[in-house]
Parts: sequence; C-alpha cells; structure tokens
Amino acid sequence: MNRIISKKQLSAEVFEMVVEAPLIAGARKAGQFLIVQIDSEWGERIPLTIADADTAAGTVTLVFQTVGATTHKLAWKEPGEFVENILGPLGNPTHIEKFGTVVCVGGGIGAAPLFPIVQAMKAAGNRVQVIIGARSRELVIFEERMGQYADGLTIVTDDGSYGRKALVTEPLKEFCQADPKPDMAVAIGPPIMMKFCTKTAGEFNVPIMVSLNTIMIDGTGMCGGCRVNVGGKTKFVCVDGPEFDGRLVDFENMMIRMRAFKEREELDHHRCHLELGLEGSPGS
Ligand code: FAD
Ligand code: FES
Ligand code: MG
Repeated sequence: MNRIISKKQLSAEVFEMVVEAPLIAGARKAGQFLIVQIDSEWGERIPLTIADADTAAGTVTLVFQTVGATTHKLAWKEPGEFVENILGPLGNPTHIEKFGTVVCVGGGIGAAPLFPIVQAMKAAGNRVQVIIGARSRELVIFEERMGQYADGLTIVTDDGSYGRKALVTEPLKEFCQADPKPDMAVAIGPPIMMKFCTKTAGEFNVPIMVSLNTIMIDGTGMCGGCRVNVGGKTKFVCVDGPEFDGRLVDFENMMIRMRAFKEREELDHHRCHLELGLEGSPGS
C-alpha cells in the first residue's frame, strides 16, 4: 500500500497527488507511467504518468483528471490514506537528446505528462518552446512550472478566456513555418489533438513524437488491451511505447478501440456517484 502525502486541486477537474513510492521515485525517467489500483485487490487498474518525483522524499507526483469512476474515487482520497498498490515505473523512457529546438505541445491534462519531458529536453541542452492548450482558463494547468524550464511558453484556449483563442495546432504551425523550423515536436493530449498536431508537423517535415493513452489493464504486454497499429505493425503501448513516431500511428483505429467500453464506463461512473453520494463532489 502507498500512503498519500498531499492532494491539491489544480482546476475544476484536475488533481495533483503526491504519493509515497521510494523505489519508483529513484528509478523513474521522463515519459514513464504507473498502473494504480485505488481501493481493493479487485479494483480497476488505471495508468497514470509520473508527472514528477522527489528522490529525497521518496515520492511520486500524479496529476489526473476526474473523467470516470476510478479517477473520482482517487480524487476522494485524503492525505494520510492509502492507495491499494502502484506498479511501475512502466513503459520506455522518452528518447531525450540534443535535437536543437523542440516544440512541446500539451493539451488539457496532457500538460502534466509533458512536464518531465520538457525538463529533460531542457537539461539535454535543447531550446524548448512549450504550447499549452485547454478548453478554458480554469483548465489551464502547469503554466508556472513550464515557465521555469521553457524558452518560450504559448497558452491557447478554445474559448479565448486566457491566452490566445486558438487550437494548439495554430501556434504549432507558426513554429513549423519559421526559419529555421523546429528539429523535433512532442505532443501529448487527446488522440484527436495528437492526430492534428501530427498532420501539422508532417506538412513541414518536422518529426513528431506522441504519447499514446490507450486503454491498459496489466501494463506489462500480456492482455493486448493497449494494442495499436504503428507503421502497419501491431504494437503494445505499454511495452513498446507509450511514445511513438506520430507519423506512423493509426489514430482512427486507436480512437475506435478507445470507445469500446464507453457504455460500461458511463454506467460505472453513474453507479459510483450514486453509491458514494458523490453528486457535487470534487471533480464531479
Ligand atoms: P472511465 O469512465 O472508466 O473512462 C473514461 C475514459 O478513460 C475512457 O473512455 C478511456 O478513454 C479512458 N480509460 C478508461 N479506462 C482506462 C484504462 N484502464 N486505461 C487507459 N485509459 C482508460 N490520465 C490522467 O488524468 N493523467 C495522467 O497522467 C494519465 N496518464 C496516462 C498514461 C498512459 C500511458 C495512459 C494509457 C493513460 C493515461 N491517462 C492519464 C488516462 C487515464 O488512465 C484514464 O483517464 C483513466 O483510466 C480513466 O479511468 P476512469 O475509471 O476514471 O474513467
Ligand atoms: Fe495489457 Fe498493454 S496493457 S498488453
Ligand atoms: Mg474506469
């Protein structure tokens, strides 16, 4: 069991939780994730990226959006309580090298998993331009933290309530059009956002890396739940990824597979609210 050290609500739907996990904190690298089981041996297992870690304190930081039953249950935990278990670090670390200029794009909750990559790209000597996109002002996260590492930070919102009124692809296109163009792009967010970032970067021959958020169960390559088509080959996101060359990813197929359990998820979410009396709760 892992003790929750602190909990902070970053926006209406996003929570940051620091959890004790000394071995993981010491071993993790940018881009890796955990499988977290919240409340019982038989509870649902969900993948969450390691947004940060403190080796001295022996803790990892999780940043998650309350989208369904399990993330709501996690949001209801308080410091001093425990999560049943955490497995990790899983997945391959991000390929970090000195590329030159790297544009890092985070959409919604994607800004959190992007943060350790921005830190590592900067530490490797890159010039890092960060674009954060959200539906509205209240949903912009990690602005201050990104600002500490980025050479430039662009905020866009769908409704124009903060930063530029634009989709992330607009500033990405401007960076790609510039001379010299970026040497690499990284995009993390909803699949549809990563698909269009890939299209934009592709038009200018800028290589782009995306971090896929498929459904996962075991996280160790055994269940096949995270299967995706990359460059015409079957890959498992948990062991072959989570990052891939965006230009090779079959996003359409991935999005269809991610909708496979939609009805069941909605039912669980509804039941979770009724059983726990969570109407009007944090992140509801
Ligand atoms: P549900 O109502 O069960 O599902 C809502 C949606 O979440 C589904 O439609 C599906 O798209 C997705 N989802 C559901 N179950 C799973 C599952 N077992 N595995 C993957 N996706 C699922 N989210 C964050 O908020 N922060 C993160 O740092 C983060 N990192 C991730 C890293 C990886 C490698 C992956 C694959 C996913 C990551 N996610 C992250 C997504 C997160 O796992 C889902 O939001 C979570 O599982 C939803 O669970 P739920 O029961 O609350 O919602
Ligand atoms: Fe089971 Fe990847 S999560 S194979
Ligand atoms: Mg669920």
